[in-house]
Amino acid sequence: MCGIVGYTGAKEKKEIILDGLKELEYRGYDSAGIAVLSGDDIEYFKAVGKLDNLIKKTENFQSYGPGVAIGHTRWATHGKPTELNAHPHLGKESFVVHNGIIENYKEIKDELEKEGIAFLSQTDTEVIVHLYEFYLSQRLEAFEAFKKTVGRLEGAYAILLISRSAEGKIFFAKNGSPLLIAPDGEDVYFASSDTAVIGRAREAYYLEDGDYGYAQMGDILLYNGESEISPKMKPLPANVDTARKDGYRFFMEKEIYEQSIVTADTMLGRVLDSQINFEEIPQGFFDDVEDIRICACGTSYHAALTASYLFERISKIRCSVEIASEFRYKEPLLQKKTLFISVSQSGETADTLEALKMVKRAGLKSLAICNVDNSSIVRESDVSILTRAGIEKGVASTKAFATQVLTLWMLSLYLAQDRGIDSQILSKEIEAMRHIPVVLRVEESLHQKIHRLSKRYLHGHGFFFIGRDLFYPLALEGALKLKEISYLHAEGYPAGEMKHGPIALADSELFTIALMPSTILSDKIRSNVEELSARDATILAISAEPFDIADDFIAIKHDSHPMTEFFEMMLVTQLLALEISVRLGNDVDMPRNLAKSVTVE
Ligand code: M6R
Repeated sequence: MCGIVGYTGAKEKKEIILDGLKELEYRGYDSAGIAVLSGDDIEYFKAVGKLDNLIKKTENFQSYGPGVAIGHTRWATHGKPTELNAHPHLGKESFVVHNGIIENYKEIKDELEKEGIAFLSQTDTEVIVHLYEFYLSQRLEAFEAFKKTVGRLEGAYAILLISRSAEGKIFFAKNGSPLLIAPDGEDVYFASSDTAVIGRAREAYYLEDGDYGYAQMGDILLYNGESEISPKMKPLPANVDTARKDGYRFFMEKEIYEQSIVTADTMLGRVLDSQINFEEIPQGFFDDVEDIRICACGTSYHAALTASYLFERISKIRCSVEIASEFRYKEPLLQKKTLFISVSQSGETADTLEALKMVKRAGLKSLAICNVDNSSIVRESDVSILTRAGIEKGVASTKAFATQVLTLWMLSLYLAQDRGIDSQILSKEIEAMRHIPVVLRVEESLHQKIHRLSKRYLHGHGFFFIGRDLFYPLALEGALKLKEISYLHAEGYPAGEMKHGPIALADSELFTIALMPSTILSDKIRSNVEELSARDATILAISAEPFDIADDFIAIKHDSHPMTEFFEMMLVTQLLALEISVRLGNDVDMPRNLAKSVTVE
């Protein structure tokens, strides 16, 4: 949810921390802060709102020479987005930044308050720094005090702590929230995600749950439990260019345009002439699998729901899909021959991760469809298939969704191969799949048309995105995209369900975005749309075939296969959401109240 950066070394520290935070700002952006300790000098700055406010506040500050610095960009969980609640949180001589939630913070806070310790913020995080200083006051040596502090914490955390009591050291600990250490000679960098340190170091250690320790002038002392361990370094990606805007107005726009390339990348080496190949999947992995259960959140859930149609129809295997936050607590009946698939762009979504941990405890096999290598979900899973979408910065997920659906489609064919799919059917699927990068090329004329049309859809009392079969999850996704960045009310609905209630809302101010494929249930969806039109709803039809009664019409071209129609309609709904949001003057990449990576439940 939040972004964390840390540094120990002799370089100018403000720039390192702020540059890193800029890369992580998309994770949370309601306040930010930085603390720097150099010799006896302590400086800290906090600002509410986007990082630019902190950058302005620190304009005249620089810090050269040996020292330590930590920074944080926040997405509020406990306490409002105010300066007092912004990290770093401070004690008398120490500062802490934290990502996650300390579940037993109230208990600790009560204890410390009884000792006369005063709290400034409403956050759970503040207990960490006071507890540390409390242990110091009990004459514990600094690292012992930190270790004891971490030992008291329950919940999820990635923590960096600096203190005058431990000159030149950054203490760190990780449990459930991501954190990495990237050393480079005498410099050591910390971050919650590797984009913040790319270009500064060549390799990094991605901390495991239970890791803690400290870094000082190039040395890293790392523990898990009572044992000292040596960090296993992995190479960092070489550059972050792909994560920059490249002349587009927004990351989301750039990412929509990138979909053609990233879907081609996702198929590379996997979609062969007459078969699907996943080197990641060990031989015999599916042998005893009787059914599939998929868990995910948000957009990833919509990709999963799409996949459930494909697994049952193509692979002939039972498949159920559940929202991870519901699944976790429903006490699901689990059996060992179920394959558990988690779908996640970030690989850090707390609910999905916890659902995965739960099924692992029950002995199920797990497979992750994920966009971030070395993420928690990837590390927890038996097998992972990376979606190769590249870094996705827009909070509203686009290219990640495209690659998730594509990967799940590939997987459904892979399983079907295992189960003896007819070779002609397989060839047709592969042919359609190879066409997807073409389908996803954004034509200027299409974008222009959607831009012009969007001005008619800025008011009204709501949107219904409707579709049937595979196009129902796409309707859900189209509605989610629109509501996330336009703040207009939008719902996705199975078209056949409208007459069971929602049609009561129909009037000219109800906008219906009708996904009308030619390849699946085309007559049925036509009738559903006609029913709405008869009640005067305003209809925007997306279809390959002209539809007379639609008020507006966007033609698609690739209607030879349900999935080519699916991807082309996906593109249209993404561009529509983008253009409506731009016209409304919203911040497309950082919509209000949202965060890119939801690492709290
Ligand atoms: O990283 P994940 O795919 O696990 O994230 C799940 C959702 O939080 C995410 O898809 C969210 O719904 C996006 N904002 C959608 O645009």
